[in-house]
Amino acid sequence: MHLAAVTADDLSEIVALINLAYRGRGDDAGWATENKYIEGERTTIGDLQKDLADRPQALFLMWRDESNDKLLGSVWLEPAKQGAWYLGLLNVRPDLQRRQLGRRLLEAAEERARAEGAERIRISVVNVRDQLIAWYQRRGYVLTGERQPFPYGDERFGRPLREDLEFVFLEKPV
Ligand SMILES: CC(C)(COP(=O)(O)OP(=O)(O)OC[C@H]1O[C@@H](n2cnc3c(N)ncnc32)[C@H](O)[C@@H]1OP(=O)(O)O)[C@@H](O)C(=O)NCCC(=O)NCCS
Repeated sequence: MHLAAVTADDLSEIVALINLAYRGRGDDAGWATENKYIEGERTTIGDLQKDLADRPQALFLMWRDESNDKLLGSVWLEPAKQGAWYLGLLNVRPDLQRRQLGRRLLEAAEERARAEGAERIRISVVNVRDQLIAWYQRRGYVLTGERQPFPYGDERFGRPLREDLEFVFLEKPV
């Protein structure tokens, strides 16, 4: 699988897919949509431009179908503390989910992080996303017990529909 660096020209297409994968509704939604817990957009072009500018060591990677250039998904990788790399924004286009593309993208991202020197991958997930946490656990990730408050009041992450959201962390050696 070839993961290419996301360029400025790709950003609007990437943001549309991230928002659809995370917050899609009705027939457009994938199995792991957050729309029951959080509404609004997951990210914006401006936020991603800022993240890319602020974090020059991060790798923002996209997967396109080599036969027709269709965007299949994307993933963010970033060096974190003590040999860990943070993996975030993993997404696959909802109309192609459940065909093992997600695990292939995850494995390719893990492989890329390992090649960059990662010893383990670190992920944060909203605590109530049991099915997604189970998906990562089936891929070898283990809950670390760490928790981080959900940024209530910061609409960049969308509008939470519950008051008990927080982030939990999972890790896996690579
Ligand atoms: C998470 C995501 C990348 C997975 O992509 P995918 O292409 O569907 O993944 P795969 O086809 O490899 O795996 C599908 C899995 O979903 C499970 N699944 C399918 N429908 C499900 C449902 N309704 N409930 C729970 N699990 C379900 C399948 O059992 C399968 O897991 P298994 O093989 O371990 O049993 C994708 O759902 C996505 O983009 N989600 C939105 C963004 C997101 O939340 N990203 C994670 C951020 S931390």
